[in-house]
Amino acid sequence: MNSDNPALHPESLPQHIAIIMDGNGRWAKKRSLNRIRGHREGTESVRDIVRACREIGIKVLTLYAFSTENWNRPPQEVAALMKLLKTFLKSESPEMMENGICLNAIGDIERFPDDVLDVLHEVTETTRKNQGMILNLALSYGGRHEIVRAAQHIARDVEDGRLQPERITEELFSSYLYTHGMPDPDLLIRTSGEMRISNFLLWQIAYTEISVTETLWPEFRREELILILRDYQKRERRFGLTGDQIRKGSRRP
Ligand code: FPP
Repeated sequence: MNSDNPALHPESLPQHIAIIMDGNGRWAKKRSLNRIRGHREGTESVRDIVRACREIGIKVLTLYAFSTENWNRPPQEVAALMKLLKTFLKSESPEMMENGICLNAIGDIERFPDDVLDVLHEVTETTRKNQGMILNLALSYGGRHEIVRAAQHIARDVEDGRLQPERITEELFSSYLYTHGMPDPDLLIRTSGEMRISNFLLWQIAYTEISVTETLWPEFRREELILILRDYQKRERRFGLTGDQIRKGSRRP
């Protein structure tokens, strides 16, 4: 545990944190800068939060970096986001190796331009065996799309005789999602104050604790993450049970 956050209890840390990084545009507008400067500053927050999560001992961090809807933004902004992503992947790859971070892309990544895909595949492959923390970048990601894609794969497996419909359970369905094999997020953070899920991890957040902060993403750094984690550790997660049942040690359903 890092010495600047002595109050965090290692036994009740979230295993998986998911973040909707919002507010880059507003951060830039407040300073009369263009939106792209906001995304660039947002990349500094990404760096800081990835480092902090690794140091704290989080096992999976999922960042919503580019949604399926983001393709409809002005072409210059989309191009700038691609460039930032590529630069980030190239520059962070050595540190990911040093810190045992495994990079994993979730989403319809085949829509990305070849030069971005090349770097993405390269870093994913280089970091594949790292065991310290999984960094999921949600790229061209949409929760409904992920669920439809899973349903299509299941239907194909049934059609080909590899799967009997009776075997389709929640666990089996989860294994067809991009996040197969990972725990569901324990904590979802959204910056910039909007009370929306924005098509993010719709299946996986069924029992996730939610924390919304007014802070704009480019100003969100590890100090605030630690405050949110302290608040998370005070919550009682009940998974549909009563408080008494949880205190008597019943397991989550
Ligand atoms: C939302 O802010 C943010 C995004 C759509 C993109 C997130 C991208 C980054 C943080 C930088 C690049 C990412 C990586 C992983 C290197 P917004 O533009 O919707 O802000 P607004 O709501 O204030 O307009």
